[in-house]
Amino acid sequence: MMYHLGLIGYPIKHSLSPWIHEQLLKEAMLPGDYRLFELSLERSFAEQLNHVKQQNLHGFNVTVPFKETIIPYLNGLSDEARAIGAVNTVVNQNERWIGYNTDGIGYLRALENQYPHVFMNKTCPILIIGAGGAARGIYYALLSNGFRHVDIANRTIEKAYAITELNTYNTRTDCITLEQAEKQLDKYTLIIQSTSVGMKPHNKVTPLHLNQIKPRTIVSDIVYQPIETLFLKEAEKKQALVHYGHAMLLYQAQAAFEIWTNQRVSIDNLDLKLQTRLEGN
Ligand code: ATR
Repeated sequence: MMYHLGLIGYPIKHSLSPWIHEQLLKEAMLPGDYRLFELSLERSFAEQLNHVKQQNLHGFNVTVPFKETIIPYLNGLSDEARAIGAVNTVVNQNERWIGYNTDGIGYLRALENQYPHVFMNKTCPILIIGAGGAARGIYYALLSNGFRHVDIANRTIEKAYAITELNTYNTRTDCITLEQAEKQLDKYTLIIQSTSVGMKPHNKVTPLHLNQIKPRTIVSDIVYQPIETLFLKEAEKKQALVHYGHAMLLYQAQAAFEIWTNQRVSIDNLDLKLQTRLEGN
């Protein structure tokens, strides 16, 4: 069987997804292709989506700005996608289009691959910086995995509180400002930077400074361009264990590919290749 896959979004010309999924198809020894469907923001979303659905696709990814827009046009949602309110993966089940969200699980798989010891103690204090879509996905994944203490720091504190509606687990969550977070970073075992702050071409900014962290704190940044953000550079100077954003990108793709093909492909070979591609950019 040929796997016809794709991506909808705007703008997507520089997306790494075609390259990643073509590598996964190759690794899985499955024939197929991955096409870009760059939608126009001026034309009707419904009509453009109908056109995509007529392309004989097995499934497709969804990226900005359509992760929420697409929900009413689907026939079903996974628990995660429903809770998070955003879809990044759609599978075609006999012309029933079902939406999933693999961002949170992608983050957790990447973390577990590099730092499995975090999963031994689910009461360790965790801090998420940011309260956008990525933060929602990661917060949901951490809670459904049994983590018991996940604080959220955000520039706009109301948005942090809004995320805690996902907390049906009795997990402890304090919502704090970035300034408060900066002063108490030594509390945390794991700190996750989930905003786009520090992304190329704004390489010289960081959402907060890491002077207060303990050595061996795990510090994740979901930004992967540049691979080593200023935030991670600061972390490294403080003897933290750094966790790069491109790993999450690979694992969310692995999870999407698994939804489409039922095959979990190892991404061990892709990590270095992706780093090389990103550094070449
Ligand atoms: P995404 O869905 O990709 O996560 P988003 O929903 O736009 O993106 O969320 C962006 C996050 O980055 C928010 O937490 C935002 O903070 P606010 O809620 O206060 O807007 C945060 N963010 C963006 N620019 C920021 C900046 N310069 N400093 C601090 N936080 C910033």
